[in-house]
Amino acid sequence: MTFQAPRGTVDLLADELRRWEALECSVRALAARYGYQELRTPIFEEAGLFLRVGETTDIVQKEMFTFTDRGERTLVLRPEGTSAIVRAYLEHNLHKTQGHARLFYLGPMFRAERPQAGRFRQFHQYGVESIGSHSPWVDAEVIALCVDSLKAAGVTGAELWIASMGCRADQARSAEALRERLRPHLAELCEECRSRFEKNVFRILDCKNPRCHRLAWQTTSEQEARGALQSPFLLCQACRDHFEMVQAALRLAGITFDATKVFARGLDYYTRTVFEVKVPGLGAQDAVAAGGRYDHLVEELGGPPTGAVGFAAGLERVLKAAQISVPTATTRRGLYLASPDAAQTAEVFRLVHALREQGVVALMDAEGRSLKAQFREADKLGCRWVAVLGETERQQNRIAVKDLQVGQQREVPLDRLVEEMAREARATDHQNVCG
Ligand code: HAM
Repeated sequence: MTFQAPRGTVDLLADELRRWEALECSVRALAARYGYQELRTPIFEEAGLFLRVGETTDIVQKEMFTFTDRGERTLVLRPEGTSAIVRAYLEHNLHKTQGHARLFYLGPMFRAERPQAGRFRQFHQYGVESIGSHSPWVDAEVIALCVDSLKAAGVTGAELWIASMGCRADQARSAEALRERLRPHLAELCEECRSRFEKNVFRILDCKNPRCHRLAWQTTSEQEARGALQSPFLLCQACRDHFEMVQAALRLAGITFDATKVFARGLDYYTRTVFEVKVPGLGAQDAVAAGGRYDHLVEELGGPPTGAVGFAAGLERVLKAAQISVPTATTRRGLYLASPDAAQTAEVFRLVHALREQGVVALMDAEGRSLKAQFREADKLGCRWVAVLGETERQQNRIAVKDLQVGQQREVPLDRLVEEMAREARATDHQNVCG
């Protein structure tokens, strides 16, 4: 019997995983620089946590992996991080102890979407939630952190789109206006959009059916040619001021953005600022990160009225975008200590262990293979250095260490090998460094 990983999931093997670890380390360090503290929540939660906040979105309605536990509780594999972070924020009284909580998270998310390039059923997000402020400066801080994290990952050519969806009152007015516009075309909408019309008319904005999409955005081909899409969100003065302030703050931070694009976000909790970062050339799934303000979610989950804003980036997509931007350099690391005959194995084993204890990646042959086979393996394993320990080396207390990366060789006293290699590895082995 053979098995494969479930549809829409992937195994991560060593080479790929090294890139993941580097990204995870760099975003953790960056989050700390902005004063964000990590929070880990379980990968499953009560279904109600998501159902109550985003009942009308596809992510919640159609794409959740739901199961019932032995106590007949309905649980879901978390489709996103924000609601879970807010749940934890309230459960641990961070609203009382921290006031403004700056939280960072990283981990797997699950959506039963139709898998395609860049879209998985288990994928990974890193993100932040800044809970406890209505200030536009905090919107800008979150966007800056998002943009910085992509830069640090080596993503170039990313485009930042920002927009405002207005406050709840604006959204009610905007929804009514959109219904007015769509009412004469109700019969032309797909069945799903007809039901969205009353429940959440904004969802029609991101319907996959081109006719619904066109009707919702009210675009004529002439408008489209002029790029003259009209935002469906009507903003009150306070929301307009807030959006202006966010843009001013981004300019102060030297962050380039496009505030002329109109787009809809696939989750219901957003108010005011929303943003998406796209990397053209990434394919159909070109959004690497997205987020926005959600000033009512804390209250909806039982807390006091609290302003909040955050973002999440998809690790798979960020890494793919980084690969397009800069081809990954293969960095060699560690020492392969080869032995010309089995009589040396014990000493090789002792030295390899001592090297590992000193933080050096060290490998050896345990099968008594030929030197040629050992060199081949050292190369295959991506070792940076190779050294051969034979009887002569032991007698003369000298060993030649060959650097495969720069193609040079140098001799070191055998009794100083561990010390020398530890120093060398500290100076050159950046892959190992976290934070
Ligand atoms: P989202 O737009 O649903 O937002 O997801 C954020 C990012 O996660 C996307 O831009 C994409 O990179 C990645 N992503 C989403 N679905 C998939 C998938 N099926 N396969 C691969 N990558 C995927 C949220 O999740 C919000 N919680 C963001 C947020 C945080 N808003 C406020 N705070």
